[in-house]
Amino acid sequence: MPLRINIDGRILPANRARIPVLDRGFLYGDSVYEVLRTYGGRLFAEPQHLRRLEHSAAALAIDLPSRAWLRRQIRRTMAAAREAESYVRVIVTRGVGPLTLDPTSARRPCTVIVAKALESFPAAAYRRGIRVHIPAIRRNAREALDPAVKSGNYLNSVLALGAARRAGCDDALMLDERGRVTEATSANVFAVLRGTLCTPPLDAGILEGVTRGLVLRLAAADGLRCAERHLRPADLLRASEVLLTSTLREVMPVVGIDRGVVADGRPGPVARRLRGLLAAHAGMRPRAAAPGRRKG
Ligand SMILES: Cc1ncc(COP(=O)(O)O)c(C=O)c1O
Repeated sequence: MPLRINIDGRILPANRARIPVLDRGFLYGDSVYEVLRTYGGRLFAEPQHLRRLEHSAAALAIDLPSRAWLRRQIRRTMAAAREAESYVRVIVTRGVGPLTLDPTSARRPCTVIVAKALESFPAAAYRRGIRVHIPAIRRNAREALDPAVKSGNYLNSVLALGAARRAGCDDALMLDERGRVTEATSANVFAVLRGTLCTPPLDAGILEGVTRGLVLRLAAADGLRCAERHLRPADLLRASEVLLTSTLREVMPVVGIDRGVVADGRPGPVARRLRGLLAAHAGMRPRAAAPGRRKG
C-alpha cells in the first residue's frame, strides 16, 4: 500500500505532495517533528509523543495546531495508508517566509503527516547485536541546539551516522564536549553496570526518549536496579550489556564499540528481558486491537 502524506489536512500520495521551496523547514530545518508507531494497529504512546512535540514547538516558538486536530489528522492519514502496522511522522514547520533568517517573518506553520508501513529492524540485529562507532563529532551542546528539542535540524546526527557508516558500524554514539556519553543518532543508550541499568541523565544533553522513560519504568517494576548517571566510553566497555532504545528499534543490544567488544560480544539477558517487557506492555494496553492483527 502506498505511503500517504497529509499537508495541512489534505491527503495526497507521495508523488503529488509538495512543499514550497521557501518553506523554512526546507531552508533552515526550522521545524519540529515526532515519529510514532503502532502495535496491533493502534498508535503507541501518542500522548507522550504529542506532549514532546508541544515541548519542542514551544522551545522554538512555532505555533502548533490543536492536539485534537493533530490526532484527527494522524488517524485520517493512517486510514488512507491502510497499513496493518504504521510508521507515522508528524512535522510542523514554521512555514513559508521571505529569504531571511528572521523567524518572525513566517506567520503560518505548515503541518505534514506521513503514514507508511512500519518496517521492522532485521531480526538478526536483535539476535546478534549491533556495533556502534564513537565519532569525532560531538553532540550539540544544550546551550547551542538543545538535543531535548526534536527539531528538523538533524545535521549533527546525520554527520555522526555518516562517520559511523564509514567506520563500518551500524550507528554512532555521540559524546559531549567533556567526553561523556550522550546518545546515539536517534536512540538513547543504556549500560548494565554491576547489575544496575544505567543511562545518562537528561542534563547530559539528550532527547528525553519515550522508550527510555518506559524502559526505566518497566525495568524498575521488574525489580531491576536503575540509575541515571553520566557514562564514559570506558564504562560501556566494562559493562555487562549495552543497549539502545527508541520507538522504532525498541530495545537493541550493542555488542561492539569501535574495536572494543562489550562483554562476550553477544546480546545479553537484560536486553532480551526489556524487549519482552516492552512488547508485553505494548500488547497489553487496554484497548489493543483484536488478536490476529498484531505482528511479532
Ligand atoms: C536523538 C534521539 N534520541 C533518542 C530517540 C529515541 O526517542 P523515542 O524513544 O521517543 O523514539 C530519538 C528518536 O527519534 C532521537 O532522535
